Order: sequence, then C-alpha cells, then structure tokens
Amino acid sequence: MKIEPDRFLRDLHALREFGASGVGKGVIRPAYSDADIAARKWLAGRMEEAGLRVHFDPVGNLFGLADGPSILLGSHSDSQPEGGWLDGALGVIAGLEVARAAQEAGGPSISVVSFQDEEGRFGVTTGSAIWSGQIDLQTADALEDDKGNSFAEARSQMAELAGDFVDPAQFKGYVELHIEQGPALDSSGEQIGVVSDIVGIRDMRITFNGQQNHAGTTPMHLRQDAFQALSAFNAAIADRFANVVTPSTVWTIGHVALHPNASSIVPGRAVFSMQWRDSDPQRLARMEQIIRATAAEIADQMGLSVDFGTLLGLEPEAMDPTLQAALEAGAEAVSPGKWRIMPSGALHDATNVARLMPVAMLFVPSINGISHAFSEDTKEADLVAGLEVLARATAFM
Ligand code: GLV
Ligand code: MN
Ligand code: MN
Repeated sequence: MKIEPDRFLRDLHALREFGASGVGKGVIRPAYSDADIAARKWLAGRMEEAGLRVHFDPVGNLFGLADGPSILLGSHSDSQPEGGWLDGALGVIAGLEVARAAQEAGGPSISVVSFQDEEGRFGVTTGSAIWSGQIDLQTADALEDDKGNSFAEARSQMAELAGDFVDPAQFKGYVELHIEQGPALDSSGEQIGVVSDIVGIRDMRITFNGQQNHAGTTPMHLRQDAFQALSAFNAAIADRFANVVTPSTVWTIGHVALHPNASSIVPGRAVFSMQWRDSDPQRLARMEQIIRATAAEIADQMGLSVDFGTLLGLEPEAMDPTLQAALEAGAEAVSPGKWRIMPSGALHDATNVARLMPVAMLFVPSINGISHAFSEDTKEADLVAGLEVLARATAFM
C-alpha cells in the first residue's frame, strides 16, 4: 500500500472550504448546517471515487465501505460553532487516504466513517452515540440545540440520503487519528501521541429562576437576580471541588443565556450548561452531588428556584491493547523516540464505538495547544507523520 501525502493534504484543504470562516483556517460547520451537509456530499463523492460503497445512515453518519471484514478508520466532519480545520477532519481524510491506497494496492480491506454531530450541537458525540446504542433514537430525537431546534427536525434535512444503520459486525476494529487539542506534544517537541484512554464526561443544563424587575427601583436586598445566583454558584463550586478534584479534572460553564439580558432589567432567568470531565466515574458522581447541592443551596439563600436538565454523559474508556500496540510500533517506525503514550482529555467518537468493537487512537501535536478556535493548526510534517503511523498500523491489524 502506497499512501500519497500530497493527495491527502489537498483533500484536507478542500474540506476546509466548506464553511470556511474567513479567519485563519477556521471553519463554521456545525452538524446539519448547509456547510456540513455539502461537505458530507463532497466526502461521499471522494469515497466513491476511491472505490468504496457510500452509505448514509438515518442520522447522517457517512460510511465508505470496503468489501469483507474491514478495519474502520475515521472521525467526524462537523465542527464547533467556531471551529478549527483539523478537529475531526484530519481523521476522516487520513482514513480516506489509507482506504484509497489500500483499494489501489488490492488490500487490506479498509472502510471510512465520518460521524455526525460529534461536537454535540444536540447531545454528546450524538451520531456515534446513537449508532453504538449509547442513546436510543427516540430519546435523541427529542434533544434540542440551544435555539430550541430538535434533533428530529435537524436529521430530517438529510432524510433523502438515509439508509439503514450499518451492521458493526463487518468491522474488525476502529482507529481514529486526531489532533491532540492540548499542549503536551507541542511543548515536548514530540510528534505522535498513542492514546491509552479517553476521559469520562457529564453535561447538564441548569436554570436559575428569579424575579425579573426594574434595575433602577429594586433595592439590592430585595432582588432575586438570576445572574447573581449563577455568579455565586460558579465561585462556590470551585471552592467545594477543591478537595475532590485532581489536576487533570476539568469543568466548564457555557451556553449562558440571561433573560432578558438588558442593562436596565434585573435578570429573571439564567440558563447554562455545566460540563465536567475526569477519568474516574466515582469522582464524576461526587462532582454531580456537589453541583446539585450547591445550586440548590444558592437558589434557596437568594430566593430563587433551580431546575436541572437531563444528565448526559459518557464513561471513561480504555483503548484496546492489541490495536494500541500496533500504533506504538507504527509510531516508533515513523518518529523514533519522538512519541509517547498519553490519555485523551477531549472526547471522541472512539468512546462510543468501543461498545461495538476494539478501538484505538493516535494524536499529532496542536500548535500552542489551541483547538475549538479558528487559530487551531498543526505542522504539515506532523499531519503526514500521523497519516503514516495510521497506514503502517493497519498492516498489523
Ligand atoms: C469534543 O470535541 C470534546 O468536547 O472533547
Ligand atoms: Mn474532534
Ligand atoms: Mn471538537
């Protein structure tokens, strides 16, 4: 099998044109946006040209299938609302190049996938979560994005392309190449990270309901200000987590929506996402207790009420030792002495796919550790090194 780095880089740049942000190499290609659907149709064409059988499933996961039992390579091609050009795209295009080279060489049998909504417009890694049975389709259909659009409406935009769900029994294993999205490889000067395990995650919407009122006439001590509750909550959980977390535990407040969000109105409602990640399920559970208790306590003290949305999450997942060893051998051949074994703090479709088959992952460096931002980038030599490790490793699978 002979991979062609130039062809791989050309395809990677071509995918970047779909939803190009005009700021650096960034992209705006959230799941089911026009740019995302156009990119998936383009990818389907490239898969077909490579000799693969194109198949969209009911949620827009796109497969390029090779005959017989095959190794599945890939990642996702949707992006964050402000995303980088490599997050997900790298694994899909590298998978395409290895599958194409394998078709040209007459083997091995390699299929490709681009999962839908990995970035969680609707849930957490939605497309692969549904395919793997982590979440059922009916439950997923009721999920809403932050504008109130349902997953059912969004996926109906791809209905004319949709076939059945793909039978996972035809795959011997799944391997995902991704950018690291953190600073470890870039700061150590190493070229490849072979992933040992992926952290677990919890994500929950929280709402503080106060009393909307006039900002000039309402005395401070009589306010039920939803923003003040959120602000107090944020400070309090940092304190209360202190004895529970490790240096690798992370938590993030996002999607903050203040109602009505005006300078002369005491806010009556604050809705936000609370997300936390760790490699220990017991610590994730302890953090959940702290979050619920702290929010309830603050609401009580300040005369508000609090509502908790559905708790979404994925468990921590270890990589398959045999596939991981194949990646380690590939890394040592391509970048001798310049690779390491490391955990993933970012989530990946591989976590869900591990319910169906053995999985493994590898990383290439992110310049300055930046990702989920338009400025995300990786040196071309590192992108190609990742492709080479992936191609070599498939020979041992
Ligand atoms: C996926 O991009 C994540 O949020 O880790
Ligand atoms: Mn990703
Ligand atoms: Mn991402």
